[in-house]
Amino acid sequence: MKPVKVGICGLGTVGSGTFNVLKRNEDEISRRAGQRIIVAQVGARRENPNCDTSGIDVTSDIFAVATNPEIDIVIELIGGYDVARKLVLTAIENGKHVVTANKALIAVHGNEIFEAAQKNNVMVAFEASVAGGIPIIKAIREGLAANQINWLAGIINGTGNFIMTEMRDKGRDFADVLAEAQALGYAEADPTFDVEGIDAAHKLTILASLAFGIPLQFEKAYTEGISQITQDDVKFAEELGYRIKHLGISRRTPDGVELRVHPTLIPKQLLLANVEGVMNAVMVDGDAVGQTLYYGAGAGAEPTASAVVADVVDVVRTLSLENGNRVPHLAFQPSALSDLPV
Ligand code: HSE
Repeated sequence: MKPVKVGICGLGTVGSGTFNVLKRNEDEISRRAGQRIIVAQVGARRENPNCDTSGIDVTSDIFAVATNPEIDIVIELIGGYDVARKLVLTAIENGKHVVTANKALIAVHGNEIFEAAQKNNVMVAFEASVAGGIPIIKAIREGLAANQINWLAGIINGTGNFIMTEMRDKGRDFADVLAEAQALGYAEADPTFDVEGIDAAHKLTILASLAFGIPLQFEKAYTEGISQITQDDVKFAEELGYRIKHLGISRRTPDGVELRVHPTLIPKQLLLANVEGVMNAVMVDGDAVGQTLYYGAGAGAEPTASAVVADVVDVVRTLSLENGNRVPHLAFQPSALSDLPV
């Protein structure tokens, strides 16, 4: 069977993580997909010293990846709205499947992108756009498919949670912790997206659309950040038995679906109050399952890469089925992974 060729656009924090995970775990990933997956091309303005791209076609022209007839799946990891939109639409028009971690793109231009994908009969996968390494998209779309979702609430910005945790535990200054989050690759290119709640609102928009079957409506989300929170707020909350957490909340109401992002006081003994640092957690309440909780690293190179690569595997399995090939049944049986053909 021919290998599936992927092209990675962007070699920043998530791009380099994705490149390295795909290379390091190529055999494991290919077995799980039922087909060999290789990185055939990288489009990046500059090389990343963390990635050994020797033997790989590297171009500074990301559009060359989106139009390369050799490439089956384009992984968009450049971030931002406009160029990313053009890149993804170009890839789709060229018959490529797309995997993206770009929440801003999906929340704001998702309706247009999914329409184009449908027209061109390609897939657009976006697991990494929400809550980093937590497979929350798949949980809502597949794991909870039987449920009417009543509400969901979560800590969905790692940078903000990291800042609040460090302020509380170490009495550190807001600006100082933000600078560290930037150095660690957690923060957005424009960190006001993190601290003013815009990033969380992008993610909430995506979750609500999946959970409640509504169009992506970022402009309808109430958005309030954490930039006004002081050491005193954190201290007083603690004294009263609460933690301040920056939550995204969406719930079904008689008047429609509510979307809001704002700092919230949570009693200290609750699980969500104890989600610290860059970790994210999302609670989902479904009518059949009751409450479920998903927890994990919400930002960072390899946690986010984990979700990007899971989407690549998903796309390859689906393609294989659409082409009439059966994904080896054993691909779903962990004990038999080593017996799979690649
Ligand atoms: N800036 C984002 C965060 C990155 O801190 O959560 C992951 O989406």
